[in-house]
Amino acid sequence: MILITGASGQLASMVAERARQNGLAVVTASRSPDADRQIDFDQPDTLDFSGVDTLLLISAGYAEDDVVMRRHGAVLAAAARQGVKHVIYTSLSKASDHLGFALAHRWTERQIMASGMDWTILRNGLYAELIGALAAPRDGRITTPFGEGGISAVARSDLAEAAVAVLSDPAAHAGKSFELSGTKAFCLPELAARLGCPYEPTSLEAERVRLATLPLPPFQAPMLLSICSAAAAGFLQTDASDLETLVPQPQDAFAVACAAADSARQT
Ligand SMILES: NC(=O)c1ccc[n+]([C@@H]2O[C@H](COP(=O)([O-])OP(=O)(O)OC[C@H]3O[C@@H](n4cnc5c(N)ncnc54)[C@H](OP(=O)(O)O)[C@@H]3O)[C@@H](O)[C@H]2O)c1
Repeated sequence: MILITGASGQLASMVAERARQNGLAVVTASRSPDADRQIDFDQPDTLDFSGVDTLLLISAGYAEDDVVMRRHGAVLAAAARQGVKHVIYTSLSKASDHLGFALAHRWTERQIMASGMDWTILRNGLYAELIGALAAPRDGRITTPFGEGGISAVARSDLAEAAVAVLSDPAAHAGKSFELSGTKAFCLPELAARLGCPYEPTSLEAERVRLATLPLPPFQAPMLLSICSAAAAGFLQTDASDLETLVPQPQDAFAVACAAADSARQT
């Protein structure tokens, strides 16, 4: 049996739907009452992996590093104890190594590799939907300080398809890490041109001041600023991608980002 965590989330719900369409026996888990199993990574008593052969651990990364590491560590310990054979983990691409939330992913990868369970690491690139939402025009201009370098973002649906490809035959993908960045980078000036609005990036300091006015949890502003810094430094562009190994015909990530930016447009 396959168990997929984060089931109420956008990535896991796509994976579960596609896996079932492909005839795989899937059990979903999250804190939501709609999931097949109610599992809360913060409540060790709820970590029920009985009967599970393959665990798709979708990262629960919207928190400080210590919280994320505690969550993932508890899941892996419970999974190993309860006889899970293979863990597939949605990590973060190598190109994202300078992001503020990369450390907890790398820590989790190490724990998985030392766990004794078989493993597959899906090193997901940044979602095109996320880049688009962060680059949404405000008052007719795009001001997000992403610089002018390329960003190798990837459509979330491609990452779901990649996960289903591995779930369909875990043994064939055991002991492998896949870099799943987008295969065609795009930059903010291109996105602004497509949306028909000027690109006038602010400074990182001005962005930090703007974020401080928003009702964000404390960890989130540094997390978002690290995406700006890495993009502006050109570190989010990479040619290292195994995406087409698992997803033969990837989506147009630029089009996905533009649609997300357009729908999040603030007047
Ligand atoms: N590559 C990227 O660009 C990128 C961007 C943002 C995030 N991420 C990472 O990728 C993951 C999946 O992305 P997504 O778009 O599907 O995010 P999402 O829609 O926010 O879903 C996150 C899921 O994490 C689950 N979760 C959070 N805290 C949990 C806990 N304590 N115990 C159990 N489950 C918990 C939530 O389930 P319940 O609330 O129902 O329990 C939710 O279903 C995120 O969680 C994050 O770690 C990647």
